[in-house]
Amino acid sequence: MKKRYQYRKYELTPKTGNKIVDNHHINYIKQINDLVDILNDEKDKESIYEIFHNILYYAEKYFIEEEFSYQKTNYSNLKEHREQHREFIKKISFFRKAYQNKVDNICEEMMKFLDRWYKEHIIKEDSDATMIVN
Ligand SMILES: [Fe+2]
Repeated sequence: MKKRYQYRKYELTPKTGNKIVDNHHINYIKQINDLVDILNDEKDKESIYEIFHNILYYAEKYFIEEEFSYQKTNYSNLKEHREQHREFIKKISFFRKAYQNKVDNICEEMMKFLDRWYKEHIIKEDSDATMIVN
């Protein structure tokens, strides 16, 4: 009998044309799909530590590059955009701590957050900003 998955994998977003942004999005999709595997019991739950590490390491590095690339243009929403990046890092750090403290349903909560970020930040904010940049 075929197993029914609760969570569906994410597809790659349409390219924005900005190499930095597009590469980040490819990496983001990889992390979110790894979490989908964990939630679907296709991957060991403890590998979530790898996801925390990858997202945090990559976000710190990438957000600076992205903000720098927007800074060179007349993108007017940079301050708010930067604030969203800071909140993202705080939130992932919060999830990591909560997971270490064995808070229930953290993987599911993080999935909801990453999904919202994907739809509201990656698809919308980054694409809008990139359109101004290019
Ligand atoms: Fe962004």
